Amino acid sequence: MTIKKEKLFKIQAVLLLCLLQLTGSLFAQTAMINVQNRNKTSLNGEWQVILDPTGIGEWKQVWQEKKPQKKTDFIEYSFVGGPNLKVPGDFNSQLCELTWFEGTVWYKKQFYNDLQPGKRLFLHFGSVDYMADVYLNGEKIGSHEGGFTPFQFEITGKVKSGSNTVVVKVNNNRQGNGLPGTGYDWFNYGGITRDVDLIETNNSYIEDYFIQLTKGSLNKVLGWVQLNGSQHGQNIMVKIPELNLVYNTKSDENGRAKIEFSSRFKLWSPESPKLYKVIVESDNDVVTDSIGFRSIEVRGKKVLLNGNPVFLKSVNIHEENPYKKARAYSIDDARVLLNAAKELGCNMVRLAHYPHSENMIREAEKMGLMVWSELPVYQHIQFSDSLVPVKLERMLNEMVCRDKNRCGVVVWSLSNETYPGTPNRNEALISLTGKCRALDSTSLITHVMNTQVYKNNAFNVWDPLYKYSDLISINEYIGWYDPWQGKPSETKWQFAFPDKPVFISEFGGEALYGSNSGPTDEAAYWTEAYQGKIYANQIELFSTIPNLCGVCPWILFDYRSLGRMNQVYQNGYNRKGLITEKGEKKKAWYIMYEYYKGK
Ligand code: GCU
Repeated sequence: MTIKKEKLFKIQAVLLLCLLQLTGSLFAQTAMINVQNRNKTSLNGEWQVILDPTGIGEWKQVWQEKKPQKKTDFIEYSFVGGPNLKVPGDFNSQLCELTWFEGTVWYKKQFYNDLQPGKRLFLHFGSVDYMADVYLNGEKIGSHEGGFTPFQFEITGKVKSGSNTVVVKVNNNRQGNGLPGTGYDWFNYGGITRDVDLIETNNSYIEDYFIQLTKGSLNKVLGWVQLNGSQHGQNIMVKIPELNLVYNTKSDENGRAKIEFSSRFKLWSPESPKLYKVIVESDNDVVTDSIGFRSIEVRGKKVLLNGNPVFLKSVNIHEENPYKKARAYSIDDARVLLNAAKELGCNMVRLAHYPHSENMIREAEKMGLMVWSELPVYQHIQFSDSLVPVKLERMLNEMVCRDKNRCGVVVWSLSNETYPGTPNRNEALISLTGKCRALDSTSLITHVMNTQVYKNNAFNVWDPLYKYSDLISINEYIGWYDPWQGKPSETKWQFAFPDKPVFISEFGGEALYGSNSGPTDEAAYWTEAYQGKIYANQIELFSTIPNLCGVCPWILFDYRSLGRMNQVYQNGYNRKGLITEKGEKKKAWYIMYEYYKGK
Protein backbone atom coordinates (compact mmCIF):
# COMPACT_ATOMS: atom_id res chain seq x y z
CA MET A 1 0.00 0.00 0.00
CA THR A 2 1.57 3.39 -1.05
CA ILE A 3 2.19 6.04 1.62
CA LYS A 4 -0.56 8.28 0.18
CA LYS A 5 -3.06 5.42 0.15
CA GLU A 6 -2.08 4.40 3.66
CA LYS A 7 -2.62 7.93 4.97
CA LEU A 8 -6.00 8.11 3.25
CA PHE A 9 -6.91 4.73 4.71
CA LYS A 10 -6.07 5.84 8.25
CA ILE A 11 -8.01 9.11 7.89
CA GLN A 12 -11.01 7.13 6.65
CA ALA A 13 -10.85 4.79 9.63
CA VAL A 14 -10.64 7.65 12.16
CA LEU A 15 -13.46 9.63 10.50
CA LEU A 16 -15.64 6.55 10.44
CA LEU A 17 -15.04 5.91 14.12
CA CYS A 18 -15.92 9.52 15.01
CA LEU A 19 -19.04 9.38 12.87
CA LEU A 20 -20.20 6.20 14.52
CA GLN A 21 -19.60 7.66 17.97
CA LEU A 22 -21.47 10.89 17.06
CA THR A 23 -24.41 9.23 15.39
CA GLY A 24 -25.45 7.66 18.65
CA SER A 25 -24.89 4.15 17.31
CA LEU A 26 -22.39 4.11 20.12
CA PHE A 27 -20.18 1.11 20.49
CA ALA A 28 -20.53 -0.72 23.76
CA GLN A 29 -17.96 0.13 26.42
CA THR A 30 -15.06 -2.21 27.08
CA ALA A 31 -16.46 -4.16 29.99
CA MET A 32 -15.28 -3.99 33.59
CA ILE A 33 -13.33 -7.11 34.55
CA ASN A 34 -13.94 -9.89 37.09
CA VAL A 35 -17.72 -9.61 36.77
CA GLN A 36 -18.28 -12.81 38.73
CA ASN A 37 -17.06 -11.11 41.92
CA ARG A 38 -19.10 -7.93 41.53
CA ASN A 39 -22.45 -6.84 43.01
CA LYS A 40 -24.58 -8.29 40.24
CA THR A 41 -28.11 -9.44 39.46
CA SER A 42 -28.35 -12.17 36.85
CA LEU A 43 -30.72 -11.77 33.91
CA ASN A 44 -30.11 -15.38 32.88
CA GLY A 45 -33.09 -17.62 32.34
CA GLU A 46 -36.08 -17.57 30.00
CA TRP A 47 -36.26 -14.63 27.55
CA GLN A 48 -39.24 -14.09 25.25
CA VAL A 49 -38.26 -14.08 21.58
CA ILE A 50 -39.55 -13.18 18.12
CA LEU A 51 -37.95 -15.11 15.26
CA ASP A 52 -37.33 -12.67 12.39
CA PRO A 53 -35.97 -14.63 9.39
CA THR A 54 -36.84 -11.85 6.90
CA GLY A 55 -35.33 -9.11 9.10
CA ILE A 56 -38.50 -6.99 8.88
CA GLY A 57 -38.53 -6.41 12.63
CA GLU A 58 -36.14 -3.48 12.20
CA TRP A 59 -38.62 -1.70 9.94
CA LYS A 60 -41.49 -2.52 12.32
CA GLN A 61 -39.38 -1.14 15.23
CA VAL A 62 -40.12 -4.21 17.34
CA TRP A 63 -38.24 -2.76 20.33
CA GLN A 64 -40.94 -0.10 20.80
CA GLU A 65 -43.58 -2.77 21.50
CA LYS A 66 -46.31 -0.48 20.20
CA LYS A 67 -49.86 -1.04 21.52
CA PRO A 68 -53.12 -0.39 19.60
CA GLN A 69 -54.33 3.16 20.34
CA LYS A 70 -57.62 3.24 18.40
CA LYS A 71 -60.25 0.56 17.83
CA THR A 72 -59.02 0.24 14.26
CA ASP A 73 -55.35 -0.24 15.24
CA PHE A 74 -53.56 -3.60 15.17
CA ILE A 75 -49.90 -4.52 15.68
CA GLU A 76 -48.27 -7.25 13.58
CA TYR A 77 -45.67 -8.39 16.07
CA SER A 78 -45.68 -9.42 19.74
CA PHE A 79 -43.36 -11.11 22.17
CA VAL A 80 -46.45 -12.54 23.88
CA GLY A 81 -47.55 -15.80 22.35
CA GLY A 82 -44.13 -16.69 21.01
CA PRO A 83 -41.45 -19.11 22.23
CA ASN A 84 -38.94 -18.51 25.02
CA LEU A 85 -35.22 -19.16 24.74
CA LYS A 86 -32.79 -19.86 27.53
CA VAL A 87 -30.04 -17.32 28.15
CA PRO A 88 -27.14 -18.08 28.09
CA GLY A 89 -27.16 -20.46 25.17
CA ASP A 90 -27.06 -20.50 21.39
CA PHE A 91 -30.50 -20.36 19.74
CA ASN A 92 -29.72 -23.00 17.08
CA SER A 93 -29.75 -25.87 19.56
CA GLN A 94 -32.93 -24.73 21.36
CA LEU A 95 -35.57 -24.68 18.63
CA CYS A 96 -35.96 -27.07 15.71
CA GLU A 97 -36.80 -24.21 13.32
CA LEU A 98 -33.53 -22.50 14.31
CA THR A 99 -31.26 -25.51 13.75
CA TRP A 100 -29.38 -23.99 10.82
CA PHE A 101 -30.72 -20.47 11.22
CA GLU A 102 -28.60 -17.48 10.27
CA GLY A 103 -30.47 -14.22 10.75
CA THR A 104 -32.23 -12.13 13.39
CA VAL A 105 -33.87 -13.17 16.66
CA TRP A 106 -35.34 -10.50 18.96
CA TYR A 107 -34.94 -11.21 22.68
CA LYS A 108 -36.89 -9.56 25.51
CA LYS A 109 -36.40 -9.57 29.28
CA GLN A 110 -38.10 -7.53 31.99
CA PHE A 111 -36.40 -6.68 35.26
CA TYR A 112 -37.27 -4.74 38.38
CA ASN A 113 -34.95 -2.02 39.57
CA ASP A 114 -34.70 0.20 42.63
CA LEU A 115 -31.32 1.87 42.12
CA GLN A 116 -30.38 3.98 45.13
CA PRO A 117 -28.84 7.51 44.88
CA GLY A 118 -25.03 7.44 44.57
CA LYS A 119 -25.10 4.09 42.79
CA ARG A 120 -24.43 3.27 39.12
CA LEU A 121 -25.91 0.46 37.05
CA PHE A 122 -24.41 -1.43 34.10
CA LEU A 123 -25.92 -3.97 31.72
CA HIS A 124 -23.19 -6.55 30.97
CA PHE A 125 -23.16 -9.27 28.30
CA GLY A 126 -20.60 -12.11 28.38
CA SER A 127 -21.05 -12.42 24.62
CA VAL A 128 -23.66 -12.19 21.85
CA ASP A 129 -22.94 -13.94 18.56
CA TYR A 130 -22.57 -12.00 16.21
CA MET A 131 -24.22 -8.54 16.16
CA ALA A 132 -26.17 -7.07 19.10
CA ASP A 133 -28.41 -3.99 19.12
CA VAL A 134 -29.59 -3.29 22.66
CA TYR A 135 -32.68 -1.30 23.68
CA LEU A 136 -33.82 -0.27 27.15
CA ASN A 137 -37.48 0.70 27.59
CA GLY A 138 -37.78 1.34 23.84
CA GLU A 139 -34.61 3.47 23.49
CA LYS A 140 -31.47 2.19 21.74
CA ILE A 141 -28.52 2.18 24.19
CA GLY A 142 -25.94 0.83 21.77
CA SER A 143 -24.56 -1.96 19.62
CA HIS A 144 -21.75 -4.48 19.71
CA GLU A 145 -20.10 -6.53 16.95
CA GLY A 146 -18.22 -9.74 17.68
CA GLY A 147 -19.41 -13.09 18.89
CA PHE A 148 -16.90 -13.97 21.59
CA THR A 149 -16.04 -11.03 23.85
CA PRO A 150 -17.86 -9.19 26.67
CA PHE A 151 -19.37 -5.73 26.50
CA GLN A 152 -21.46 -3.43 28.69
CA PHE A 153 -23.63 -0.30 28.71
CA GLU A 154 -24.01 2.10 31.60
CA ILE A 155 -27.75 2.53 32.19
CA THR A 156 -27.64 4.62 35.38
CA GLY A 157 -29.49 7.60 33.98
CA LYS A 158 -31.74 5.52 31.73
CA VAL A 159 -33.18 2.87 34.01
CA LYS A 160 -36.55 3.47 35.70
CA SER A 161 -37.56 2.65 39.24
CA GLY A 162 -39.75 -0.42 39.03
CA SER A 163 -40.18 -2.46 35.87
CA ASN A 164 -37.81 -2.12 32.90
CA THR A 165 -37.59 -3.91 29.57
CA VAL A 166 -34.45 -4.92 27.69
CA VAL A 167 -34.80 -5.87 24.02
CA VAL A 168 -31.79 -7.28 22.17
CA LYS A 169 -31.68 -7.72 18.42
CA VAL A 170 -29.31 -10.63 17.79
CA ASN A 171 -28.08 -11.34 14.28
CA ASN A 172 -25.66 -14.13 13.38
CA ASN A 173 -25.43 -13.53 9.63
CA ARG A 174 -21.81 -13.88 8.54
CA GLN A 175 -20.27 -10.52 7.60
CA GLY A 176 -17.88 -10.01 4.66
CA ASN A 177 -15.85 -7.52 6.72
CA GLY A 178 -16.47 -9.38 9.97
CA LEU A 179 -14.11 -11.14 12.38
CA PRO A 180 -14.36 -13.95 11.27
CA GLY A 181 -15.41 -13.29 7.68
CA THR A 182 -17.99 -15.36 5.84
CA GLY A 183 -16.02 -18.61 5.54
CA TYR A 184 -15.11 -20.75 8.53
CA ASP A 185 -14.95 -24.39 9.48
CA TRP A 186 -17.10 -24.45 12.60
CA PHE A 187 -20.81 -24.16 13.36
CA ASN A 188 -22.18 -20.63 13.22
CA TYR A 189 -24.03 -20.63 16.53
CA GLY A 190 -26.03 -17.44 17.16
CA GLY A 191 -27.67 -16.01 20.23
CA ILE A 192 -27.01 -14.52 23.65
CA THR A 193 -24.39 -17.17 24.22
CA ARG A 194 -23.03 -16.19 27.67
CA ASP A 195 -24.31 -14.65 30.94
CA VAL A 196 -26.22 -11.36 31.12
CA ASP A 197 -25.93 -9.37 34.35
CA LEU A 198 -26.93 -6.07 35.91
CA ILE A 199 -23.91 -4.79 37.82
CA GLU A 200 -24.32 -2.16 40.53
CA THR A 201 -21.36 -0.02 41.62
CA ASN A 202 -20.69 3.08 43.69
CA ASN A 203 -20.15 6.36 41.86
CA SER A 204 -16.47 5.54 41.80
CA TYR A 205 -15.51 1.91 41.24
CA ILE A 206 -12.53 -0.27 40.34
CA GLU A 207 -13.00 -0.74 36.61
CA ASP A 208 -9.80 -2.58 35.68
CA TYR A 209 -6.46 -3.80 37.00
CA PHE A 210 -3.43 -5.78 35.90
CA ILE A 211 -1.46 -7.72 38.52
CA GLN A 212 1.16 -10.16 37.22
CA LEU A 213 4.89 -10.88 37.39
CA THR A 214 6.82 -8.62 35.08
CA LYS A 215 8.50 -10.33 32.14
CA GLY A 216 11.59 -12.29 33.19
CA SER A 217 11.02 -11.96 36.94
CA LEU A 218 9.91 -14.66 39.40
CA ASN A 219 9.12 -12.32 42.27
CA LYS A 220 8.43 -8.78 41.01
CA VAL A 221 4.92 -7.59 40.15
CA LEU A 222 4.48 -4.53 37.95
CA GLY A 223 0.88 -3.56 37.29
CA TRP A 224 -1.82 -0.97 37.71
CA VAL A 225 -5.34 -0.28 38.98
CA GLN A 226 -7.81 1.87 37.03
CA LEU A 227 -10.74 3.61 38.69
CA ASN A 228 -13.89 4.88 36.99
CA GLY A 229 -15.73 7.86 38.50
CA SER A 230 -14.31 10.36 41.02
CA GLN A 231 -10.77 9.20 40.82
CA HIS A 232 -8.09 11.62 41.95
CA GLY A 233 -5.98 10.82 44.99
CA GLN A 234 -7.92 7.79 46.15
CA ASN A 235 -6.20 5.35 48.50
CA ILE A 236 -5.50 2.16 46.59
CA MET A 237 -4.58 -1.10 48.28
CA VAL A 238 -3.60 -4.50 46.93
CA LYS A 239 -3.67 -7.28 49.52
CA ILE A 240 -2.55 -10.91 49.32
CA PRO A 241 -3.47 -12.24 52.80
CA GLU A 242 -1.65 -15.56 52.39
CA LEU A 243 1.59 -13.66 51.85
CA ASN A 244 0.85 -11.03 54.50
CA LEU A 245 1.24 -8.56 51.66
CA VAL A 246 -0.41 -5.11 51.72
CA TYR A 247 0.64 -2.63 49.03
CA ASN A 248 -0.54 0.97 49.42
CA THR A 249 -0.57 3.72 46.82
CA LYS A 250 -2.76 6.54 45.49
CA SER A 251 -4.60 7.08 42.21
CA ASP A 252 -3.48 9.93 39.94
CA GLU A 253 -5.66 12.56 38.24
CA ASN A 254 -6.79 9.95 35.72
CA GLY A 255 -7.78 7.42 38.36
CA ARG A 256 -4.75 5.28 37.56
CA ALA A 257 -2.46 3.82 40.21
CA LYS A 258 0.81 2.07 39.41
CA ILE A 259 1.41 -1.18 41.30
CA GLU A 260 4.92 -2.39 42.09
CA PHE A 261 5.81 -4.94 44.72
CA SER A 262 7.88 -8.08 45.18
CA SER A 263 7.20 -11.23 47.14
CA ARG A 264 8.18 -14.88 47.34
CA PHE A 265 5.32 -16.49 45.40
CA LYS A 266 4.50 -20.14 45.05
CA LEU A 267 4.52 -19.95 41.26
CA TRP A 268 1.63 -21.26 39.16
CA SER A 269 2.40 -24.23 36.92
CA PRO A 270 0.51 -27.20 35.45
CA GLU A 271 2.03 -29.39 38.15
CA SER A 272 1.16 -26.87 40.90
CA PRO A 273 -1.67 -24.53 39.78
CA LYS A 274 -1.41 -22.22 42.78
CA LEU A 275 -3.86 -19.30 42.90
CA TYR A 276 -3.82 -16.56 45.54
CA LYS A 277 -6.76 -14.58 46.87
CA VAL A 278 -5.98 -11.01 45.79
CA ILE A 279 -8.01 -8.10 47.18
CA VAL A 280 -8.00 -4.76 45.34
CA GLU A 281 -9.38 -1.84 47.34
CA SER A 282 -10.10 1.83 46.71
CA ASP A 283 -11.85 4.38 48.93
CA ASN A 284 -15.21 3.28 47.48
CA ASP A 285 -14.83 -0.25 46.16
CA VAL A 286 -13.39 -3.70 46.92
CA VAL A 287 -12.88 -6.42 44.32
CA THR A 288 -11.55 -9.90 45.14
CA ASP A 289 -9.91 -12.12 42.54
CA SER A 290 -7.97 -15.41 42.31
CA ILE A 291 -4.64 -14.73 40.65
CA GLY A 292 -1.73 -17.06 39.93
CA PHE A 293 1.79 -15.81 39.38
CA ARG A 294 3.93 -17.25 36.61
CA SER A 295 6.63 -16.22 34.16
CA ILE A 296 6.36 -17.30 30.52
CA GLU A 297 9.07 -16.26 28.11
CA VAL A 298 11.07 -17.26 25.07
CA ARG A 299 14.79 -17.52 25.67
CA GLY A 300 16.73 -18.48 22.54
CA LYS A 301 15.03 -21.49 21.01
CA LYS A 302 13.17 -22.51 24.17
CA VAL A 303 9.92 -21.58 25.87
CA LEU A 304 10.50 -21.15 29.61
CA LEU A 305 7.79 -21.41 32.26
CA ASN A 306 9.04 -19.98 35.56
CA GLY A 307 12.55 -20.14 34.14
CA ASN A 308 12.38 -23.83 33.18
CA PRO A 309 12.09 -25.18 29.60
CA VAL A 310 8.57 -26.48 28.93
CA PHE A 311 7.25 -28.63 26.08
CA LEU A 312 3.72 -27.50 25.18
CA LYS A 313 1.63 -30.68 25.08
CA SER A 314 -1.46 -29.09 23.64
CA VAL A 315 -4.72 -29.92 21.90
CA ASN A 316 -7.19 -27.85 19.87
CA ILE A 317 -10.68 -27.28 21.27
CA HIS A 318 -13.71 -25.55 19.76
CA GLU A 319 -16.33 -24.01 22.08
CA GLU A 320 -18.88 -26.78 21.62
CA ASN A 321 -20.14 -29.29 24.15
CA PRO A 322 -20.04 -32.43 21.97
CA TYR A 323 -22.69 -34.23 23.99
CA LYS A 324 -25.17 -31.32 23.76
CA LYS A 325 -24.36 -30.38 20.16
CA ALA A 326 -24.40 -26.79 21.40
CA ARG A 327 -22.17 -23.82 22.14
CA ALA A 328 -20.30 -24.44 25.39
CA TYR A 329 -20.64 -21.69 28.01
CA SER A 330 -20.98 -23.12 31.53
CA ILE A 331 -18.50 -24.35 34.12
CA ASP A 332 -19.78 -27.88 33.52
CA ASP A 333 -19.23 -27.50 29.77
CA ALA A 334 -15.69 -26.28 30.47
CA ARG A 335 -14.98 -29.26 32.71
CA VAL A 336 -16.21 -31.73 30.05
CA LEU A 337 -13.74 -30.31 27.52
CA LEU A 338 -10.82 -29.65 29.86
CA ASN A 339 -11.01 -33.00 31.66
CA ALA A 340 -10.75 -34.68 28.26
CA ALA A 341 -7.63 -32.60 27.52
CA LYS A 342 -6.10 -33.56 30.89
CA GLU A 343 -6.88 -37.25 30.24
CA LEU A 344 -4.96 -37.03 26.95
CA GLY A 345 -1.94 -35.79 28.94
CA CYS A 346 -2.04 -32.13 27.89
CA ASN A 347 -0.53 -29.19 29.76
CA MET A 348 -2.03 -26.61 27.37
CA VAL A 349 -5.21 -26.09 25.34
CA ARG A 350 -5.50 -24.02 22.18
CA LEU A 351 -8.95 -22.43 22.37
CA ALA A 352 -9.72 -22.22 18.65
CA HIS A 353 -10.45 -19.93 16.86
CA TYR A 354 -11.94 -17.21 19.07
CA PRO A 355 -11.95 -16.21 22.78
CA HIS A 356 -13.84 -18.85 24.77
CA SER A 357 -15.96 -18.11 27.85
CA GLU A 358 -14.31 -16.83 31.02
CA ASN A 359 -15.49 -20.05 32.67
CA MET A 360 -13.20 -21.99 30.33
CA ILE A 361 -10.21 -19.80 31.11
CA ARG A 362 -10.73 -19.87 34.89
CA GLU A 363 -11.37 -23.62 35.00
CA ALA A 364 -8.27 -24.27 32.91
CA GLU A 365 -5.98 -22.37 35.29
CA LYS A 366 -7.53 -24.13 38.29
CA MET A 367 -6.84 -27.49 36.60
CA GLY A 368 -3.28 -26.59 35.65
CA LEU A 369 -3.79 -26.15 31.92
CA MET A 370 -2.02 -23.35 30.10
CA VAL A 371 -4.28 -21.53 27.64
CA TRP A 372 -3.70 -20.29 24.09
CA SER A 373 -6.37 -17.66 23.43
CA GLU A 374 -7.06 -16.58 19.87
CA LEU A 375 -8.80 -13.82 17.88
CA PRO A 376 -11.19 -14.94 15.11
CA VAL A 377 -8.90 -13.42 12.47
CA TYR A 378 -9.47 -16.48 10.38
CA GLN A 379 -8.33 -17.06 6.80
CA HIS A 380 -10.26 -14.68 4.47
CA ILE A 381 -10.37 -11.31 6.29
CA GLN A 382 -11.00 -8.03 4.45
CA PHE A 383 -8.00 -6.24 5.92
CA SER A 384 -8.31 -3.39 3.40
CA ASP A 385 -11.84 -2.55 4.53
CA SER A 386 -11.44 0.66 6.57
CA LEU A 387 -13.64 -0.76 9.35
CA VAL A 388 -11.57 -3.92 9.86
CA PRO A 389 -8.55 -2.36 11.66
CA VAL A 390 -11.02 -0.66 14.03
CA LYS A 391 -12.74 -3.98 14.69
CA LEU A 392 -9.39 -5.74 15.12
CA GLU A 393 -8.27 -3.30 17.80
CA ARG A 394 -11.58 -3.33 19.64
CA MET A 395 -11.76 -7.14 19.71
CA LEU A 396 -8.12 -7.35 20.84
CA ASN A 397 -8.86 -4.91 23.68
CA GLU A 398 -11.93 -6.88 24.73
CA MET A 399 -10.07 -10.22 24.71
CA VAL A 400 -6.93 -9.05 26.56
CA CYS A 401 -8.85 -6.78 28.93
CA ARG A 402 -10.99 -9.65 30.20
CA ASP A 403 -8.23 -12.26 30.63
CA LYS A 404 -4.92 -10.42 31.20
CA ASN A 405 -4.98 -11.40 34.92
CA ARG A 406 -5.49 -15.06 34.10
CA CYS A 407 -2.09 -16.61 34.67
CA GLY A 408 -3.11 -19.65 32.64
CA VAL A 409 -3.23 -17.56 29.46
CA VAL A 410 0.33 -17.84 28.14
CA VAL A 411 -0.22 -17.22 24.40
CA TRP A 412 -2.25 -14.57 22.57
CA SER A 413 -2.76 -15.72 19.00
CA LEU A 414 -3.79 -12.86 16.74
CA SER A 415 -4.53 -14.67 13.47
CA ASN A 416 -4.99 -18.06 11.86
CA GLU A 417 -4.06 -18.92 8.27
CA THR A 418 -4.28 -15.45 6.78
CA TYR A 419 -2.40 -14.79 3.58
CA PRO A 420 0.62 -12.50 3.03
CA GLY A 421 -0.80 -11.46 -0.34
CA THR A 422 -4.06 -10.08 1.10
CA PRO A 423 -3.99 -6.26 0.80
CA ASN A 424 -3.08 -4.60 4.10
CA ARG A 425 -2.84 -7.96 5.93
CA ASN A 426 0.80 -7.53 6.94
CA GLU A 427 0.41 -3.87 7.97
CA ALA A 428 -2.78 -4.51 9.95
CA LEU A 429 -1.42 -7.56 11.81
CA ILE A 430 2.01 -6.07 12.52
CA SER A 431 0.25 -3.05 14.02
CA LEU A 432 -2.09 -5.33 16.01
CA THR A 433 0.90 -7.25 17.39
CA GLY A 434 2.39 -4.03 18.75
CA LYS A 435 -0.93 -3.12 20.35
CA CYS A 436 -1.14 -6.55 22.00
CA ARG A 437 2.35 -6.22 23.47
CA ALA A 438 1.38 -2.84 24.89
CA LEU A 439 -1.68 -4.38 26.55
CA ASP A 440 0.13 -7.40 28.01
CA SER A 441 3.92 -7.66 27.91
CA THR A 442 3.94 -10.76 30.15
CA SER A 443 2.53 -13.32 27.69
CA LEU A 444 3.70 -14.70 24.35
CA ILE A 445 2.24 -13.52 21.05
CA THR A 446 1.95 -15.49 17.83
CA HIS A 447 0.30 -15.70 14.43
CA VAL A 448 -0.65 -19.11 13.06
CA MET A 449 0.42 -19.76 9.50
CA ASN A 450 0.11 -22.37 6.80
CA THR A 451 2.21 -20.43 4.27
CA GLN A 452 5.13 -22.87 4.47
CA VAL A 453 6.20 -24.59 1.23
CA TYR A 454 6.48 -28.42 1.39
CA LYS A 455 8.55 -29.68 -1.57
CA ASN A 456 10.94 -32.60 -2.08
CA ASN A 457 10.24 -33.77 1.45
CA ALA A 458 11.43 -30.45 2.83
CA PHE A 459 9.66 -27.49 4.46
CA ASN A 460 10.58 -23.92 3.69
CA VAL A 461 9.03 -21.80 6.45
CA TRP A 462 8.65 -18.10 5.83
CA ASP A 463 6.11 -15.37 6.49
CA PRO A 464 6.59 -11.63 7.22
CA LEU A 465 4.64 -11.97 10.47
CA TYR A 466 7.10 -14.46 11.96
CA LYS A 467 9.50 -11.57 12.61
CA TYR A 468 6.96 -10.14 15.11
CA SER A 469 5.91 -13.46 16.68
CA ASP A 470 7.44 -15.06 19.76
CA LEU A 471 6.57 -18.51 18.40
CA ILE A 472 6.73 -19.87 14.84
CA SER A 473 3.27 -21.50 14.77
CA ILE A 474 2.62 -23.82 11.85
CA ASN A 475 -0.53 -25.64 10.72
CA GLU A 476 0.38 -28.61 8.51
CA TYR A 477 -1.70 -31.60 7.43
CA ILE A 478 0.88 -33.82 5.81
CA GLY A 479 -0.70 -37.25 5.46
CA TRP A 480 -4.21 -35.84 5.02
CA TYR A 481 -4.54 -32.78 2.77
CA ASP A 482 -0.98 -33.25 1.42
CA PRO A 483 0.56 -36.69 0.79
CA TRP A 484 4.01 -37.49 2.21
CA GLN A 485 6.85 -36.79 -0.20
CA GLY A 486 9.29 -39.14 1.48
CA LYS A 487 10.00 -40.71 4.86
CA PRO A 488 8.70 -38.40 7.61
CA SER A 489 11.89 -39.10 9.58
CA GLU A 490 13.97 -37.72 6.68
CA THR A 491 12.10 -34.40 6.33
CA LYS A 492 14.28 -31.31 6.06
CA TRP A 493 13.46 -27.85 7.41
CA GLN A 494 14.48 -24.36 6.33
CA PHE A 495 13.35 -21.51 8.62
CA ALA A 496 13.55 -17.80 7.80
CA PHE A 497 13.83 -17.24 11.57
CA PRO A 498 15.91 -20.22 12.76
CA ASP A 499 16.35 -18.92 16.31
CA LYS A 500 12.70 -19.00 17.38
CA PRO A 501 10.77 -21.85 19.02
CA VAL A 502 8.54 -23.81 16.63
CA PHE A 503 5.02 -24.93 17.57
CA ILE A 504 2.96 -27.27 15.37
CA SER A 505 -0.43 -25.68 16.04
CA GLU A 506 -2.47 -28.05 13.89
CA PHE A 507 -1.95 -31.49 12.35
CA GLY A 508 -4.07 -34.62 11.91
CA GLY A 509 -6.72 -36.08 9.63
CA GLU A 510 -10.23 -37.48 9.63
CA ALA A 511 -11.66 -40.82 10.68
CA LEU A 512 -15.12 -42.09 11.39
CA TYR A 513 -15.04 -44.03 14.65
CA GLY A 514 -15.53 -47.74 14.00
CA SER A 515 -14.79 -47.33 10.29
CA ASN A 516 -12.32 -50.17 9.88
CA SER A 517 -13.68 -52.06 6.90
CA GLY A 518 -12.22 -50.14 3.94
CA PRO A 519 -8.64 -50.28 2.63
CA THR A 520 -6.55 -48.83 5.43
CA ASP A 521 -4.20 -47.08 3.00
CA GLU A 522 -6.91 -45.03 1.27
CA ALA A 523 -8.16 -41.75 2.70
CA ALA A 524 -11.60 -42.01 1.13
CA TYR A 525 -12.78 -44.62 3.65
CA TRP A 526 -12.25 -42.47 6.75
CA THR A 527 -10.73 -45.47 8.59
CA GLU A 528 -9.29 -45.15 12.07
CA ALA A 529 -6.22 -46.99 10.82
CA TYR A 530 -5.57 -44.31 8.19
CA GLN A 531 -5.90 -41.55 10.80
CA GLY A 532 -3.70 -43.52 13.19
CA LYS A 533 -1.01 -43.83 10.52
CA ILE A 534 -1.08 -40.05 10.05
CA TYR A 535 -0.38 -39.64 13.76
CA ALA A 536 2.42 -42.20 13.77
CA ASN A 537 4.06 -40.46 10.81
CA GLN A 538 3.58 -37.01 12.36
CA ILE A 539 5.35 -38.15 15.52
CA GLU A 540 8.27 -39.22 13.32
CA LEU A 541 8.13 -35.81 11.63
CA PHE A 542 8.29 -34.02 15.00
CA SER A 543 11.69 -35.57 15.67
CA THR A 544 13.09 -33.73 12.61
CA ILE A 545 11.94 -30.26 13.68
CA PRO A 546 14.66 -28.09 15.18
CA ASN A 547 13.53 -25.90 18.12
CA LEU A 548 10.23 -27.80 18.49
CA CYS A 549 8.58 -26.36 21.63
CA GLY A 550 5.22 -28.09 21.37
CA VAL A 551 2.52 -29.74 19.27
CA CYS A 552 -1.26 -29.45 19.08
CA PRO A 553 -3.39 -32.05 17.23
CA TRP A 554 -6.47 -30.87 15.37
CA ILE A 555 -8.78 -31.59 17.27
CA LEU A 556 -9.91 -33.05 20.60
CA PHE A 557 -13.55 -33.83 19.67
CA ASP A 558 -15.36 -34.35 16.38
CA TYR A 559 -17.33 -31.13 15.96
CA ARG A 560 -20.11 -29.62 13.87
CA SER A 561 -19.19 -27.94 10.58
CA LEU A 562 -21.85 -27.81 7.89
CA GLY A 563 -19.37 -27.75 5.04
CA ARG A 564 -18.38 -31.32 5.86
CA MET A 565 -21.00 -32.93 3.62
CA ASN A 566 -19.86 -36.49 2.98
CA GLN A 567 -23.10 -38.18 4.06
CA VAL A 568 -21.48 -41.53 4.72
CA TYR A 569 -18.61 -40.41 6.90
CA GLN A 570 -19.13 -36.78 7.99
CA ASN A 571 -22.82 -35.72 8.08
CA GLY A 572 -22.02 -32.12 8.96
CA TYR A 573 -19.12 -33.04 11.24
CA ASN A 574 -15.42 -32.37 10.93
CA ARG A 575 -14.13 -35.84 11.84
CA LYS A 576 -10.55 -34.92 12.77
CA GLY A 577 -11.42 -35.43 16.43
CA LEU A 578 -9.41 -37.84 18.56
CA ILE A 579 -12.72 -38.50 20.30
CA THR A 580 -16.21 -38.64 18.79
CA GLU A 581 -19.10 -36.45 19.86
CA LYS A 582 -20.29 -39.47 21.85
CA GLY A 583 -17.02 -39.73 23.79
CA GLU A 584 -15.57 -42.72 21.86
CA LYS A 585 -11.77 -42.65 21.61
CA LYS A 586 -10.32 -43.37 18.19
CA LYS A 587 -7.06 -45.28 17.61
CA ALA A 588 -5.24 -41.98 17.08
CA TRP A 589 -6.15 -40.92 20.64
CA TYR A 590 -4.06 -43.76 22.06
CA ILE A 591 -1.11 -42.88 19.80
CA MET A 592 -1.22 -39.26 20.98
CA TYR A 593 -1.64 -40.34 24.59
CA GLU A 594 1.51 -42.47 24.44
CA TYR A 595 3.45 -39.64 22.78
CA TYR A 596 2.54 -37.20 25.53
CA LYS A 597 3.20 -39.77 28.24
CA GLY A 598 6.71 -40.09 26.90
CA LYS A 599 7.31 -36.33 26.87
C1 GCU B 1 -7.39 -25.45 9.15
C2 GCU B 1 -8.11 -24.54 10.12
C3 GCU B 1 -9.10 -25.28 10.97
C4 GCU B 1 -9.82 -26.31 10.12
C5 GCU B 1 -8.81 -27.36 9.75
C6 GCU B 1 -9.49 -28.46 8.90
O1 GCU B 1 -6.05 -25.53 9.45
O2 GCU B 1 -7.25 -23.79 10.97
O3 GCU B 1 -10.03 -24.34 11.49
O4 GCU B 1 -10.91 -26.87 10.81
O5 GCU B 1 -7.77 -26.79 8.99
O6 GCU B 1 -9.42 -28.33 7.69
O7 GCU B 1 -10.07 -29.35 9.49
